[in-house]
Amino acid sequence: MIGVFDSGFGGLVVLREFLQVLPQYDYLYLGDNARIPYGTRSERVVLRFTEQALNYLFSQGCRLIILACHTASAKALRTVQQVYLPDRYPENRVLGVLIPTVEEALTRSRIKRIGVIATEGTVASKSFELELKKLDPEVEVFQQACPLLVPLIEEGEQEWEGTNMILRRYLEQLIAAQVDTLILGCTHYSILKDKVKAILGEGVSLICSGQVTAEKLVDYLRRHPEIETRLSRGVGRRYLTTDLTPRFQQLASLFMGQPIDSEVVEL
Ligand code: DGL
Repeated sequence: MIGVFDSGFGGLVVLREFLQVLPQYDYLYLGDNARIPYGTRSERVVLRFTEQALNYLFSQGCRLIILACHTASAKALRTVQQVYLPDRYPENRVLGVLIPTVEEALTRSRIKRIGVIATEGTVASKSFELELKKLDPEVEVFQQACPLLVPLIEEGEQEWEGTNMILRRYLEQLIAAQVDTLILGCTHYSILKDKVKAILGEGVSLICSGQVTAEKLVDYLRRHPEIETRLSRGVGRRYLTTDLTPRFQQLASLFMGQPIDSEVVEL
């Protein structure tokens, strides 16, 4: 199975993109809803929670896991790939959403002025900036943490005028910086894509990591038959969560576009 991990529901947006382009595989989704948000947590804690989730998904038979959570991709992926995997699961793979997103942003930006909106944790890690500059040292990166957006989206307030005002406030500096490309660097933000577009105008290219990661995953599996041939097909999809509250179906529907049956697990 392909495992998809997120701190909560937002990663369902990423899974949805995978299902569009790679519907033939089986997927196991895990949302750590008992411990969301990750965006405000330290690197040490995000790494610990991520490793616990990976242990669980590997124990269920996943061979390839995608960290749909941007905060986990920013703060834990490097250690996972360099220490955890070689040590514990050298045959398996864990990929994140950051690198595909960064590559796409650099391809699209004409003037090399790229904005990033993300959680506080992702911005503080400077991971997007570091990866962008690693690939193109000339690029100028403007980051903006948007801590209010995840709670507003999870409260179902995406149509509220207040959300639009807050979004405008967050985007002010990026407009002033005249970025021509903006990375939506958090699982939840693609829900606000049209609103961001309306504020920034057609001249700014928006990068939704879920869509980009899905396209790059198709290419990755083509280039890695040793992984691709080990992925199961025809069994189906399962949705796991570390907490099941009455809001679960409502939020799952928002992110997945339909209600889902989920199972509660302990990590
Ligand atoms: N999934 C997180 C991310 O993409 C957002 C929610 C959280 O803070 O845990 O960064």
